[in-house]
Amino acid sequence: MKVGLLIIATNKYIEFLQPLIKTADEFFLKGYEVTYFIFTNKDIYIETYRDIVITNLEHKEWPWMTLGRYQIFYDKYDELSKMDYLYYTDADMSFVDDVGFEILSDRVATQHPGYYNRRGTPEINPNSLAYVRSDEEMQYFAGGFNGGTSEEYLKMSKTISKNINIDYSKDIIAIWHDESHMNRYLIDNKPTKILDPGYCYGETMNIPFDKKLIALNKNHLEIRR
Ligand code: GAL
Ligand code: GAL
Ligand code: MN
Repeated sequence: MKVGLLIIATNKYIEFLQPLIKTADEFFLKGYEVTYFIFTNKDIYIETYRDIVITNLEHKEWPWMTLGRYQIFYDKYDELSKMDYLYYTDADMSFVDDVGFEILSDRVATQHPGYYNRRGTPEINPNSLAYVRSDEEMQYFAGGFNGGTSEEYLKMSKTISKNINIDYSKDIIAIWHDESHMNRYLIDNKPTKILDPGYCYGETMNIPFDKKLIALNKNHLEIRR
């Protein structure tokens, strides 16, 4: 069984890569055949015992590196579809405990650490394809860690990137970018596995879940420049 871990890191985010990979080597699906797919704009060398595939791309201005992620993955369809499962993690994250077979499922989403079991911050502009009506039931998922079978993940990537492009052709960018579109998608295609916020645990938060994957504090403005 082959698992791909997808990571996008350009410019200042590159500094997060080696520390993240080091913790992934130790905690992410230990014992499984994992390939790291890294998307970056610099020449990098990463130390790891696992397979690594580095894809070069150009850095784009905020918010396009996050908004464009599903297009980046879908563009890599031929290679990514050879994996059985695909997972994505933000680069500014750190694995701190075993993340194992419990995450393997068709469509895997992580409850947002700020809004678990709540509606969170869906898109409320009806002109956006990420729009969620107020009478629709939902819980809010975090964009920072998700995954599934490669078939399902690439299907989601196709739909979300298409919707983002259609929005953009009308000058619309959803409130929380890719995360808004992902949340819309997951209302229409319910996750088959919901991970608790311990899989996207804000570094300085104090919430009642076991820490597995930490979302590191960073100065967003500084780092996105
Ligand atoms: C913030 C997080 C953003 C986005 C937002 C949703 O805490 O940093 O990336 O998820 O919540 O309201
Ligand atoms: C953050 C999340 C990122 C991205 C961003 C969208 O919460 O960690 O992966 O989805 O929201 O603004
Ligand atoms: Mn982040």
